[in-house]
Amino acid sequence: MVEAKNVSREYREGSISVLAVDSVCLSMKKGEVLLIMGPSGSGKTTLISMMGCILHPTGGEVVVDGRSVTALHEDALPDIRKRYFGFVFQSFNLFPSLTAAENVEAILRFKGWNKGDFSMQARHLLEKVRLEHRKDFYPRDLSGGEKQKVAFARALAGDPPVILADEPTANLDSKNATEVLSLLKGLAEGFGKAVAIVSHDPKAEAFAHRVVFMEDGRLSV
Ligand SMILES: Nc1ncnc2c1ncn2[C@@H]1O[C@H](COP(=O)(O)OP(=O)(O)O)[C@@H](O)[C@H]1O
Ligand SMILES: [Mg+2]
Repeated sequence: MVEAKNVSREYREGSISVLAVDSVCLSMKKGEVLLIMGPSGSGKTTLISMMGCILHPTGGEVVVDGRSVTALHEDALPDIRKRYFGFVFQSFNLFPSLTAAENVEAILRFKGWNKGDFSMQARHLLEKVRLEHRKDFYPRDLSGGEKQKVAFARALAGDPPVILADEPTANLDSKNATEVLSLLKGLAEGFGKAVAIVSHDPKAEAFAHRVVFMEDGRLSV
């Protein structure tokens, strides 16, 4: 579904350059949870951002659904992101003044998907993450795990085939972390999504079909 082919990313500031990702080959498949582990600073966020077409590689190419996106013009990328990717981050990034359902609706509106009954679609997405009973709650009244589930519901808006989660359990206690990880696995196994999780939580291994390790920008399996 998504393939990194010899992908590299160099950050340059003045005369200093950091090779954050160094010639990485990695693929994501439908129905599979891929776990990317590795110490802080090893290049995980940089790699997943390139796979999600948020960041341009300085070497190699990223292929999405059989098409090389690296060669595409910058203008084409927002459409690719919208169509193929749902993103989840460690800080849930919810709108504090909107309820769970409204948070999801806002993204549906923003993405411009399936114009029509946004509130019904939002409810349907919250059902997918088993949170419909909290639809009228504000973020401040939700647990960390529940907030992350709202973030997942938003990531699922437009039904993207690929879900990228960068340290989704970093701000969660153990019980909520387990719930969120099991939800991610369910998205792969129940809905055929290609899921990549970046984490250094050892618990995550039990929820992954495949684990790779990053160190100093390089991948070891
Ligand atoms: N925008 C940036 N500008 C310069 N250097 C960066 C930038 N983002 C990340 N880096 C550097 O790239 C390396 C990898 O970072 P990152 O991908 O965030 O690693 P991880 O997610 O594994 O913690 C680090 O050395 C980091 O300091
Ligand atoms: Mg990171």
